[in-house]
Amino acid sequence: MSTVTDTPALANARRGFDSLEEETHLDGLPVRGELPPWLRGSLIRTGPAKWEVGDRAMNNWFDGFAMLHRFSFAGGDVSYANRFLESRAYRAARDEGRIAYSEFATDPCRSLFQRVSAMFSPKLTDNANVNLTKLGERFISMTETPIPVEFDAETLAAAGVPYEPPGQLSTAHPHMDRATKGMLNYAAKLGPRTSYRFFLLRPGSSKPEVIATKPVREPAYMHSFGLTERWLVLAEFPFVVNPPRLAFSGRPYIENYRWKPERGTRFHLFDRETGEGVGPFETEARFAFHHVNSYEEGGDVVVDICTFPDAGIVEDLYMERLRAGKPVTPGFLERFRISPEAGMVSSERLIDESIELPRINYSRCNERPYRYAWGVGMGGGWIDRIVKADVVERRSTVWSEEGCFPGEPVFVAAPDADDEDEGVLLSVVLDGRAGNSFLLALDARSLNELARAEVPHHIPFGFHGQFARG
Ligand SMILES: [Fe+2]
Repeated sequence: MSTVTDTPALANARRGFDSLEEETHLDGLPVRGELPPWLRGSLIRTGPAKWEVGDRAMNNWFDGFAMLHRFSFAGGDVSYANRFLESRAYRAARDEGRIAYSEFATDPCRSLFQRVSAMFSPKLTDNANVNLTKLGERFISMTETPIPVEFDAETLAAAGVPYEPPGQLSTAHPHMDRATKGMLNYAAKLGPRTSYRFFLLRPGSSKPEVIATKPVREPAYMHSFGLTERWLVLAEFPFVVNPPRLAFSGRPYIENYRWKPERGTRFHLFDRETGEGVGPFETEARFAFHHVNSYEEGGDVVVDICTFPDAGIVEDLYMERLRAGKPVTPGFLERFRISPEAGMVSSERLIDESIELPRINYSRCNERPYRYAWGVGMGGGWIDRIVKADVVERRSTVWSEEGCFPGEPVFVAAPDADDEDEGVLLSVVLDGRAGNSFLLALDARSLNELARAEVPHHIPFGFHGQFARG
C-alpha cells in the first residue's frame, strides 16, 4: 500500500470530485483552435456525478450516480448536453431521498432480515456509471453488478434494460465480435456452483449465449478481459471473494474481496470457437482494471495490461481520501507473454510513464499486433497528463498543462486513414484553477493541441466514453 501524504499539487483536482446537479444543453460552445472538418458525431461519456443522497454520502468514486455527457461535433461547432442516467437506483434516490440499491462500496442501511432477503432477491444496482457501448443501433450504459441501461443518444433519456447477463457480476468492458458484430462479455454466476462465464450477445438479440464456462470457488474481481483472434483471455488477479460473504458479511460489495498475493496471477485462455479452456498459466501477483490489447505471436499469446502492484488502488479511490488530496497509486503498462506449450508467463514493463484508462485504435487493432495506446498518466498523485505509448519503440509522448486534469482520451480515426495513429484524441479536461472543464482535441500522432471547447461548469471526473460517428 502507498504511503499516505497530502500532495498540494492535488488541491486543484478536488473540484473533479464535487457533485454536479444541473442538467443542461448548450449549443455553440466557444471553440479555441480548429477542429478537423471531418469530425462529425458525438463523444458520449458516463461517469459518477452525484455522491450525496439526503444526509448520506457515497464512500467511493465508483459509487456516484451516473451522468451521461455528450459533446457533439459538426462543421467545427461543438455542443454539450448532460443528463443523469435515470436508472432505478437514481430514480429511487431522487424520488425517495435515500440510497436504495447496493453500490460498489456503499450499501443501503439494511437490517439483518433485509440483508438475508436481499440474497434471495438481490436489488442489484443499475447505476451504469462505468462505460457505454453501441449494440447495433442501441446505446447501452454499463456497470459491473450487472444490469445495463439502454438510453437515447439524442435525449440521453433511459430506455429500459436491453438484456440481462447470465450471472450476478459482469464487466463494463465488452469486446466486439468481428464475425457476428455482436458483443462478447464476461459474467460470474454466483451460487452453490460458482462459475466464470463468457457470453455472446448477437445484434438485435436480448438473449446472451454462454460460449465458455469455468467453475471457480473464489472468483476474482474482474473489470475487463482480453481478446485475440483465437482466445478469450481471463487474467485472474488474486483479489477474490468467497461468494457467501457477499450475502452475509453486511459489508458493501467490494469490501468483501480479499487480497491473497500467494495465489499469484493466473491466466486462463478459452477458445472462442469451442469454448475449451487451457491454463491456468501463473505469474506473480498483480492487480488491474484494464486490459489494453492482446494478440497471438507465433505460439505465444501477448497480453498488455495496465497493472498495479496490489489491490490497494481500490482503497485509494475512496472519496474521503480523494477529497483530502491523498495521492493515488499509478498504474503501468505491462506486457505478459504466455507460452501455452511451455506453460510459462514472462512479463515486462513497456514504457516508463504511468498509464491508465487505455484506448487503442480499436476497430483496426483489437485482437491484433498494434503499436499505439493512449491513456492518462500521473505525476503528482493524480491524473495530470495524456500519454501516448509506442509499444514497439517502447517510448511515450505526453500532453499536460499546469492545473489541468484530463479524463480518458478517446481515439477517433480520420476517414481513410493510412496510419494507425492518424486521427484525433478527445478528452474532457478539468481546469482546476478556473474551476470548469473543457473538451480537448489533440492530434493523436503528435499530441499537439488542435482545439478546445469550454463548458461554463465543472464536469466531475468520469470513467469511459465512446465516439459515435454522425
Ligand atoms: Fe474501466
